[in-house]
Amino acid sequence: MSAPLASQLELRDVTKRFGGVAAVDGVTFDIAKGDIVGIIGPNGAGKTTLLNCISGLQRLDGGDIRWQGDSISGLAPHRIAKLGIGRTFQIVRPFGSMTVRENAAIGALFGSAEARRRPKEAFEQADEVLELVGLKAKAGLAVSTLTIPDRKRLEVARAVATKPQLLLLDEVMAGLNNVEIDEALDMVRAVHATGVTVLLIEHVMRVIVGVCRRAIVLDFGQVLAQGEPEVVLRDERVIQAYLGERYAKRRQP
Ligand SMILES: Nc1ncnc2c1ncn2[C@@H]1O[C@H](COP(=O)(O)OP(=O)(O)OP(=O)(O)O)[C@@H](O)[C@H]1O
Ligand SMILES: [Mg+2]
Repeated sequence: MSAPLASQLELRDVTKRFGGVAAVDGVTFDIAKGDIVGIIGPNGAGKTTLLNCISGLQRLDGGDIRWQGDSISGLAPHRIAKLGIGRTFQIVRPFGSMTVRENAAIGALFGSAEARRRPKEAFEQADEVLELVGLKAKAGLAVSTLTIPDRKRLEVARAVATKPQLLLLDEVMAGLNNVEIDEALDMVRAVHATGVTVLLIEHVMRVIVGVCRRAIVLDFGQVLAQGEPEVVLRDERVIQAYLGERYAKRRQP
């Protein structure tokens, strides 16, 4: 057993409504410093909305989010980024006409207090993160020439270049084949190994089992289950709500 980790992010009864629908409905959990946690759940369960609440893109309708002991509820996204919370987006929108290196440097220029401010330093930092995510050889290419997996790598590189202490990843493996998923897994492990706490949304269970210490299952905006991935994925309620019978059968010896 590893030693218990100090709490870095605390969600208490977090609620976000769109019209009459609670997309996130009373969500409570803690993320420990240095942890790597997966959020899973059916389409429309509220996963992206939850990330939007943490990163300040959406205001809470109820509850509180605390970062290193202080409430960040209601802060603007750039303030939250400066505090050390970085994220990727489910729909990747890089600056297409710019190079890979320039895109990564933007993250460095507009990131946390730890990120570099001067262009020269920003490019140095961009080179470091491109190496980390395996894009160094493509640094000089225009983004428009990149394949889908490389665009996802770049999205992670841009977020890592902001020097976050907590990285929020929204389905960075979606649309990748098995080999590409393995490479992306290595990338996430490499980022986590630099000391970054990771909270990732993923539909690919191999990813959750492969890298996460803990999994949180959302269903209709609520936490249906949380715990060790292997245990959570065997939970009858999780199988019924999300994984379905096919997955359950495959897991039988
Ligand atoms: N800006 C918005 N305005 C209105 N409704 C929204 C908005 N964003 C999300 N919703 C609704 O909130 C619910 C949760 O959506 P969300 O995108 O958070 O789900 P998700 O778990 O990320 O799904 P997916 O796995 O498909 O990405 C859905 O019913 C969705 O239609
Ligand atoms: Mg989503």
